[in-house]
Amino acid sequence: MGRTAREILKVDVNEVLKDLLKAYADEWLAHYQYWLAAQWIRGIDADTLRPVLLKQSMDELKHAEKLAQRIIQLGGKPVMEFSQLLTTSRCGYIAPPEDPTDLRKLIEDVLRAEQCAIRFYSEMVEKYRLTDVVTHELFEELLEDEVEDEEEWERFLAKL
Ligand SMILES: [Fe+2]
Ligand SMILES: [Fe+2]
Repeated sequence: MGRTAREILKVDVNEVLKDLLKAYADEWLAHYQYWLAAQWIRGIDADTLRPVLLKQSMDELKHAEKLAQRIIQLGGKPVMEFSQLLTTSRCGYIAPPEDPTDLRKLIEDVLRAEQCAIRFYSEMVEKYRLTDVVTHELFEELLEDEVEDEEEWERFLAKL
């Protein structure tokens, strides 16, 4: 990070990095959760849900990518050990339901992940509004996407 970029930060950079790392871990876990669900599910509606899960899974990976770039820009390191993703994450990971045809449970779990992200990111948008504009905008962008994701899954759930 350049000198001026450091100057405009009105907050401890380690504090920002801690939050960015939590989000980074969440996005990786959501990516994996949705991708695995897409492989696992069976049943009448599975073919409808599968492409949506795969698309959103890739979107979450792109979120992780943006967070990784901001972390590195701030002089930090993304989570280097895979085993630390879970302990770093804020929203955690929910494994697919035992029963691959239980699509209701699956969608409810996806919704849980999205709702946690929405709460976390809106908290971050507020937190960095005046202290780190770049991080603030990054969280705003992610928040917008998660809001759309939630809406999409609520629609699916209503149709099941
Ligand atoms: Fe995301
Ligand atoms: Fe999402």
